[in-house]
Amino acid sequence: MLSVQNTDTPVTFSPELKAKFADVVSRYPAGKQKSALLPVLHLVQAEYGWVSAPAMDAVAEYLSIQSIEVYEVASFYTMYFLKPQGKYMLEVCRTGPCEIVGATPIMEHIEQQLGVKEGDVTEDGLFSWRGVECLAACGFGPVLQIGPEYTFYENLTKESVDTLISDLRRKAGN
Ligand code: FES
Repeated sequence: MLSVQNTDTPVTFSPELKAKFADVVSRYPAGKQKSALLPVLHLVQAEYGWVSAPAMDAVAEYLSIQSIEVYEVASFYTMYFLKPQGKYMLEVCRTGPCEIVGATPIMEHIEQQLGVKEGDVTEDGLFSWRGVECLAACGFGPVLQIGPEYTFYENLTKESVDTLISDLRRKAGN
């Protein structure tokens, strides 16, 4: 379950999360804790659902590096969400091979079914969606993945997307 995070207040990581950080940092040589930045950011995102500026500041403090170093990395990689997302982020591959077999109509259908534009969050907080680059399942397009577990769904049709969304709503108790 995701923790609720205010966007303005400083972040204090739980002892459990810090223990996970420590485990990651221990895999690197002493004094090279900065190398753990990417996996630590993944842990933060898994905990909160996104990576806020206060969370990045807290990561910087934990790793004894500058906040700007964390901002640079978090804003470079698209897998880090810098604003709140829905509980389920539907990421549709929009690269050539998936586009040829119908990625755009699938994204249009998702937008219509969820009633939100790319990158926005549904009113119930359950869903966001976006187009992404190749998900390495090019022979099975159209393809989407759903975070935070990054489950894959292949050979998408509008009907299978509807089923998927219904299943997720049911799973969430809506
Ligand atoms: Fe869609 Fe590679 S082009 S998975």
